[in-house]
Amino acid sequence: MKKISSKLLSVILAAFIIFTAAVPSFAADDLLWEHVWNEEHDNGVILFPGSNNSEMNVSWCSETKSEPKVIVDEGIVIGSGAEEFKGYCVAAPDGDYSNKVTITDLEPGKTYSYQCVSEGFMSNVYSFKTDVDPNTFSAVYMTDIHTSHDDANENGIKETAEKFNSTLAEAASRKNISLLLSAGDQASEGYETEYKGYSSALALKSFPVATTIGNHDRKGIAYKTFNNVPNEREDNLVASYIGGDYWFVKGDVLFLVMDSNNASGMDHRAFMKSAIKANPDVKWKVMMAHHDLYSGRIPRRESENELLRMIWGPLCDEFKIDLMLLGHSHYYTVTNVLYNNKTASDYSEMMTNPAGTVFMVSGSITRPRTDEDLGLNEEWVGYANTPDQRIIYNILDFTKDSITVSSYYKGEKDAFNKYSIVKTSNEGGHPDRLIPSFFDAFVRFAGTVYGFFNNIGVYSDLKDDGFDVDFFEVVFNN
Ligand SMILES: [Fe+2]
Ligand SMILES: [Fe+2]
Repeated sequence: MKKISSKLLSVILAAFIIFTAAVPSFAADDLLWEHVWNEEHDNGVILFPGSNNSEMNVSWCSETKSEPKVIVDEGIVIGSGAEEFKGYCVAAPDGDYSNKVTITDLEPGKTYSYQCVSEGFMSNVYSFKTDVDPNTFSAVYMTDIHTSHDDANENGIKETAEKFNSTLAEAASRKNISLLLSAGDQASEGYETEYKGYSSALALKSFPVATTIGNHDRKGIAYKTFNNVPNEREDNLVASYIGGDYWFVKGDVLFLVMDSNNASGMDHRAFMKSAIKANPDVKWKVMMAHHDLYSGRIPRRESENELLRMIWGPLCDEFKIDLMLLGHSHYYTVTNVLYNNKTASDYSEMMTNPAGTVFMVSGSITRPRTDEDLGLNEEWVGYANTPDQRIIYNILDFTKDSITVSSYYKGEKDAFNKYSIVKTSNEGGHPDRLIPSFFDAFVRFAGTVYGFFNNIGVYSDLKDDGFDVDFFEVVFNN
């Protein structure tokens, strides 16, 4: 068969990208994926949420340092009326540079084309859509993607990235998706090459991904350079050294994205307080972090989970979190409605004005577990599934009054689980927790002290691994 030239494939890709602006499909066939992998993945062009619906953040890699810009126009082509948005460039750990730009003044219900430009680089023209009704949108939630370097398999990153790409493509073929929520462990070793693999997913050039930091992301420092997130906390007592807590608003939902590797409960509480103060009128609060809290299905992690519950449970109560999305255990579970670390009401397909928080964990994309070593906390978990190594993704449909979660096995038509949280007022059924207990405050303080010492250990490990890191930055500052 005659070899199809790279130039022709570029034209096919451009046509595909323009086509996807009109039809929400990212069906990545083998030929297209091969081309994206060979020609595009080094650039790592990827979208992140802006602070609100009128903004979109962009990030990409380059070999040289320059002032990056993104050219943006309405519609599916860039014309003479295009606008330029300038950003900044930071050094990445392996000698590359990471370019970060924020696009502003976006209007609802429009298609925008964009092209990333930095010294010696001009990307393809990609496009994204803004939500028609800001209060009605759909997001994909996945966790533990684990794009993985493998010493024994030179194609390890490519193969795991392909699994992620095809899973996201399937999710995005179901409906208009305007956000991916990824609850940590995007990479397995924290290598820059793993993040380049993960950011190759075609769909992430057309809607943004909000990621949080998993324990595996924290094995290196590359994660930091691949992010361009809004409203990141910078004045922590204890550093979240590859990226701090951040928030963004989409429609009537405040998303709080937390670094659960950092045990500093004092910092997390201060961040949540300021994020909610900045957005007092939002109806929904959805939090995302990496470490599973309540499923407890891996017994060796149960003591760690217990400590984490003592930090995060009271914060969810105090700030009336509706839904918390988690990862780490790689087991699909949904809890009952929890308040004060106890069941306030049972899990059901429709939870109206729940008097507490629902906690959810999804399965891993590339490392799904079997149901060995089960130690399910039946006290809290309302729905559990042991998928025997099947890949799971979830679609969250947001409306003004409800969040509906539909969970799918990759390759199957119908959802295997579906539930809704409904609120008839901003408060819903959350009780007030007006006077936080002394014990909760002590736990947060103890977590903060632990965080200092933990970061000293992290600094020492990074130095041993040959990273040129600054003690003050790793231990105290973001
Ligand atoms: Fe994981
Ligand atoms: Fe993990």
